[in-house]
Amino acid sequence: MTPLLEARGVSKAFPGVQALSNAGITVQAGRLNALLGENGAGKSTLMNILSGVFPPDHGEVRFEGRPVSFRDPRAAHEAGVAIIFQELNLVGGLSVAENIFLGRQPLTRWGLVDRARMNRDAAELLARLDMRIDPTILVERLKVGAQQMVEIAKALSFDAKVLILDEPTSALTEHEVETLFGVIRRLKQRGVGMIYITHRLDELPEIADDVTIFRDGVLVHESTYRADDRSEYVRRMVGRDLAELFARSSGTRGDPALEVADLTVARPGGGQPLVDRVSFTVHAGEVVGLFGLMGAGRTELLEAIYGLHRGRCEGTILRDGRRIQVGGPRDALVAGLALAPEDRKADGLVLGLSVATNVSMASLDRVLRHGFVSVREERHRAADAIATLAIKTPSADQAVGALSGGNQQKVVLAKGLATEPKVLLLDEPTRGVDIGAKREIYALIDRWASLGMAVLVASSELPEILGLSDRILVLAEGRLTAEFRRDEASEQSVLHAAIPVRRASEVVA
Ligand SMILES: Nc1ncnc2c1ncn2[C@@H]1O[C@H](COP(=O)(O)OP(=O)(O)OP(=O)(O)O)[C@@H](O)[C@H]1O
Ligand SMILES: [Mg+2]
Repeated sequence: MTPLLEARGVSKAFPGVQALSNAGITVQAGRLNALLGENGAGKSTLMNILSGVFPPDHGEVRFEGRPVSFRDPRAAHEAGVAIIFQELNLVGGLSVAENIFLGRQPLTRWGLVDRARMNRDAAELLARLDMRIDPTILVERLKVGAQQMVEIAKALSFDAKVLILDEPTSALTEHEVETLFGVIRRLKQRGVGMIYITHRLDELPEIADDVTIFRDGVLVHESTYRADDRSEYVRRMVGRDLAELFARSSGTRGDPALEVADLTVARPGGGQPLVDRVSFTVHAGEVVGLFGLMGAGRTELLEAIYGLHRGRCEGTILRDGRRIQVGGPRDALVAGLALAPEDRKADGLVLGLSVATNVSMASLDRVLRHGFVSVREERHRAADAIATLAIKTPSADQAVGALSGGNQQKVVLAKGLATEPKVLLLDEPTRGVDIGAKREIYALIDRWASLGMAVLVASSELPEILGLSDRILVLAEGRLTAEFRRDEASEQSVLHAAIPVRRASEVVA
């Protein structure tokens, strides 16, 4: 059977980087092809080529048997190839419906945008995704997970024959992931072919029909997917065997480094607080995991400790036993706090600036010499970070926006670490990070803790929380619902505590 979409012998170079050398992929109608590979392997680059973002240097792309070269993503969309980008691409200042129908809003017969119809159509699409999002709300008011859903709705609004999903679940909760998988199954039945990029291999048994693996820009494996071949796939990806599980080494727990008492963050506009009278302690040398479903208040809690919700916040925060008032990044630095945020594009990085500048941005006083930024010191620190975190970049001068998604995430961590914090707040630290690098980051967190750092890490990945934490705190609807020691926690018990009581039946169903 003629494949829906096929790419062969594709190469693409960027200044200083050969992103693809001999890559390709085949998409069959009604099947999902899982595209795997380490950070920087070239996955997103090939997807950009397939969807008309830029042309390849060499190679051929065929759509329904005919050679094509899409002028731009719009042309690809109209032909039936839709892509959901890894980095969200919505316009924050526009509504959900406006984003979905951007550039092709339905018009009234007077030539004006037919808002009523646009909102109705958007509502219908969102309902198909089982998402209760108000189509008239501004996208910037949505959290990452909800924004991701809007992107998917947008792609589906074109009658896509091929749908490309670049790490769609990296910001979704388990419930939302299930919803997405339901949509994927229905799309398969309708004959839609899909390319699905992920670093979460656990997802594949549920959805994958075929598997394609890139290593350093080269196509190294393609076959039908078999769950039993998982370790073989990992070997192809990273070029060596990897033991999969990570175990935290047992360290000694020091004095309380961070004490939070009755912390409350009011919800803008009123209603139940985002964070509701939360109290806990993190000791020096300890890794405390913070688990919760989307909307549980994990991010808001970390942000509040970091002083980002001043004016809407009550409660007390002690650092080494002394009360602190954090009014912003400057105070946080002085207090020895660092935050590596969840949304690397919005709060984490300046994409147009270099790796070196981004790394030292939060710790300028560490690179100042006689009142000036010492370029030498800055580069020295960047080189350090690039080595420790194995950041794949041609140089420290490369613009962060040109790095692959997972490597951008590593720069966010490097930036936090460069402040030499005593307390490290991590929000989804391994989002979009490949399996090898994930293990490296876990090992680093383990090491920082053993050097006496207090680490508070929020994650929606249960295995990560269970593997990494000495203690686990569970949030549901802004409240602390449970606390487990490492040896007491199980997936069951933690998940159970995370499900708000009145929603329990809904989520389990
Ligand atoms: N616009 C660009 N300019 C310069 N280099 C780029 C650009 N886009 C990608 N690259 C480089 O090309 C290589 C492949 O990147 P790509 O984004 O395709 O990786 P990926 O497989 O999607 O990785 P990840 O899993 O981290 O998302 C990387 O070294 C990246 O830094
Ligand atoms: Mg990518």
